[in-house]
Amino acid sequence: MDYERESSKMTNEQYYDLIQPYEDASRMLLGRLELLNRSLYGGGPDYGPIHNIQSRIKEKRSIEEKLKRMGYGDGVMNARDYLQDIAGIRMICYFVDDIYNMVSALKRQSDLVVIKEKDYISSPKPNGYRSYHIVVGMPVYCMDTMEYFPVEVQFRTMSMDFWASMEHRICYKKSPEHRESLEREFKEYARVLQEIEERFEKYSDVAEKR
Ligand code: GTP
Ligand code: MG
Repeated sequence: MDYERESSKMTNEQYYDLIQPYEDASRMLLGRLELLNRSLYGGGPDYGPIHNIQSRIKEKRSIEEKLKRMGYGDGVMNARDYLQDIAGIRMICYFVDDIYNMVSALKRQSDLVVIKEKDYISSPKPNGYRSYHIVVGMPVYCMDTMEYFPVEVQFRTMSMDFWASMEHRICYKKSPEHRESLEREFKEYARVLQEIEERFEKYSDVAEKR
């Protein structure tokens, strides 16, 4: 089958079949992350690195729109082949150190594979976006076969998440004439938020708890 030309719209039924293993993979990874939150610093849930966790499965329409944006037909095979963010988890942590500790603990789990990794904390995007992205392949078993399914995890501090959420909400659909001044404004917000984040760092006692 020529996947590139696969352009038959997916039915609702095909969509639910498509997302099933991604839901399994996501649920499994969430369990691991919650366990790490309880055990990473050995101090129980009150001392964990995580402030909160969000997760979502990409909606049918978003899948179709993204495939079209990428220049592919919007069928299920293309979704499987070309999208790595059908399952998404967002981990909001307290401190930057928490993020790196969580990532390295996760990467030590030998049954999962790292498909893609982007450190927008050490190298922020030009607009000021900061976050640590990792696409993890989770093994999903079906009878006698095993297949890896990708889950995109975005690690952020509360201030990174605040900035990204506002930027997404405010800048997303703005017309070009407003865009330039908004971009400047948001770069400044990114700088201020990072400064506040760094001031809070002195209260991070991660090193003692490890
Ligand atoms: P995608 O096609 O969006 O997946 O791009 P990519 O494969 O280059 O991935 P990247 O890791 O750069 O970004 C993936 C996700 O990170 C996006 O879907 C957003 O959720 C988030 N993200 C990346 N850049 C920005 C940004 O500038 N602003 C905001 N608010 N979110 C961003
Ligand atoms: Mg993405």
